[in-house]
Amino acid sequence: MKFQYAVPIIAILHIFFVGCHSYCIGTCYSGRLFPETQDIFHGKHLKGYSYNNITTNDPVKCYHHCVQDCRCKACQMKDARCELLDEDKTFKADNFTAESGYVYFDLKQTLYQGKSDIVQPGVCYNGCCRSQPCRNGGTCVEHCISPKKKFSCTCTLNYHGIVCDKTHVFTSCLDVLRYHTPKGSHPKNGKYYMHLPGLRNRLVFCAFESKNRAWTLVESYSISKIDIYRAMVFHQFIARNHNNPNWNDHRQGTHFINYIRSKSTMFRVTCDFPRRSSLVPDYLFGYLRDYDIIDHGDANPVSQNA
Ligand SMILES: *[C@@H]1O[C@H](CO)[C@@H](O)[C@H](O)[C@H]1NC(C)=O
Ligand SMILES: *[C@@H]1O[C@H](CO)[C@@H](O)[C@H](O)[C@H]1NC(C)=O
Repeated sequence: MKFQYAVPIIAILHIFFVGCHSYCIGTCYSGRLFPETQDIFHGKHLKGYSYNNITTNDPVKCYHHCVQDCRCKACQMKDARCELLDEDKTFKADNFTAESGYVYFDLKQTLYQGKSDIVQPGVCYNGCCRSQPCRNGGTCVEHCISPKKKFSCTCTLNYHGIVCDKTHVFTSCLDVLRYHTPKGSHPKNGKYYMHLPGLRNRLVFCAFESKNRAWTLVESYSISKIDIYRAMVFHQFIARNHNNPNWNDHRQGTHFINYIRSKSTMFRVTCDFPRRSSLVPDYLFGYLRDYDIIDHGDANPVSQNA
């Protein structure tokens, strides 16, 4: 690939540096508008880490997109496609492989500190969280040590990925627990997105007790709804707000309840679950083999966990 822009680039570079330095607040990054020869790799690409593909056949524009984006660690081009990358050839050396037609550009930047009263010395600020890059309620934290890591996201419940855009696909509350246990973490009680065999994906409320006990909420209602719920036995096909688990008015559908029952051994009925500090004394607790709440549950207490 040949570049014929040497003179215009140098002109822009000068303006860029002046503009950037004078407006720098906190930690800023400087670098060339185009990488040096040793950071350009012809016939190589980093496979599996592109997070955004831009249509352009101009390598300078491609690299510029990477420079402008806090998430970008390197970029690569093939024909008119510019791929921005979440990783670089140093961290993912195994995935940096030969592929004809590709040109890979490593992002080269250096850090410098702006002079400003807004950011106290020692406090990291680089502006990378301003655009709220973490999705699905994730929390963004800025980092000021390396130009290859400008921010990170702490994701909520069942999201993961660099910007929390990936969903874990769980098949049960127990699956959630088993996902966390090997990592030494304990999942929080809360709503998880689930894919259940033969059923539509849905949000399910899970509560976790010990290393191998997980409860699935199948029904919850407030005392003002008692007349409605009293009339709803579990083997009837009635669901209420089934995809919006909440304490006041929620009942999963019969298919879901039957599926959970087929995987469960116990049921539990708890009053005022979210405000309790202990489950002892629990309201009611039993084995499904002794009393099957699905087939016999004509009188429903306040909240059911099977
Ligand atoms: C990167 O390479 C490793 C080792 O060959 C492989 O296990 C992994 O799946 C690759 N990652 C991607 C995203 O392709
Ligand atoms: C970008 O294009 C490549 C090649 O077609 C593809 O493998 C990759 O998944 C694309 N990335 C995104 C984020 O669409």
